[in-house]
Amino acid sequence: MSAIKNVTVVGASGTLGVPLVKALQESGFHVTALSRAGSPSSPPPGVEVKKALKAALTGQDALVSVITTTATGEQYPFIDAAIAAGVKRIVPSEFGINTRTVPHPGLRAMLQSKIKLVDYLQEKSGENPDLTWTGICNSFFFDSIKRGSGFGFDLKTKKATIIDSGDEPFDVATLSFVAKAVAAVLSAPEKTANQYLTVSGTVTTQNELLAILREETGGDWKTEKVAADKYEETGNDKMARGTTRPSGTSCTSCSSATGRARPSRPPANELLGLEREDTRTALKALLAGASF
Ligand SMILES: NC(=O)c1ccc[n+]([C@@H]2O[C@H](COP(=O)([O-])OP(=O)(O)OC[C@H]3O[C@@H](n4cnc5c(N)ncnc54)[C@H](OP(=O)(O)O)[C@@H]3O)[C@@H](O)[C@H]2O)c1
Repeated sequence: MSAIKNVTVVGASGTLGVPLVKALQESGFHVTALSRAGSPSSPPPGVEVKKALKAALTGQDALVSVITTTATGEQYPFIDAAIAAGVKRIVPSEFGINTRTVPHPGLRAMLQSKIKLVDYLQEKSGENPDLTWTGICNSFFFDSIKRGSGFGFDLKTKKATIIDSGDEPFDVATLSFVAKAVAAVLSAPEKTANQYLTVSGTVTTQNELLAILREETGGDWKTEKVAADKYEETGNDKMARGTTRPSGTSCTSCSSATGRARPSRPPANELLGLEREDTRTALKALLAGASF
């Protein structure tokens, strides 16, 4: 397979999109953004923006979608247009837990559109040897700790909700780590073709994060212990009343409940030449950039 040079990104102005574009540009890729006609956002500097599918995909080697979670079912037109334009590699908007093996029924239901899209890519690449795909599982965005009650920690009120023992290890990755992983995938197209890869920034626990937060933000954190089942039950009630984001409760619970979290496949860090992140260093950098 020839080298990838030109990359179209869907969702270039988004949470992952901005660091992704930076990482792709730093790795020498030429980036074009495919954006919605009525998009209110502007993609990062140095990126050519196209609103029409054909124009955005003609002459491109790869399509990377980092479209928002709720629009992951809307990726089929891009995929079909990319195949028609002869795009060689498609990276769908996955970037969470491994949707190939998701064990939690609530999350499985929530992730149906992602699951079906990877099935579709598998089918299409089976029919067309020139088309390849790579799915990326990075577990949880570490940066989510800055928002609301990410991982059970509310930075504003210094309240920690510890699920089960708090000692359950789970994987997190900063947005910049995930962005580098995508650039590494596109830099090694042969090694990464038609695979669902798991990468890991670092492995941590709620108790480890709480200890670092106590040291870095002052010791006066209030903690509440909750059993995972109870936490989910309360979250489901809130979800039904529309007072919490659909994925928040399940994700926090999924990451921290006893026996739930570890990825089922070994990380592809080595394959991609990615060094693990240091939990404390990464958390300190996130805290420094947080507004609370
Ligand atoms: N692992 C984790 O913890 C975690 C956390 C959050 C997200 N994720 C995953 O990461 C991927 C990217 O998510 P993200 O949070 O970076 O996305 P985001 O910032 O919410 O949105 C990315 C882009 O999607 C485009 N878009 C298309 N249709 C849209 C619509 N109907 N509403 C809003 N935006 C729309 C927008 O680009 P234009 O305006 O240019 O069209 C937007 O900038 C998703 O697969 C998501 O599930 C993972």
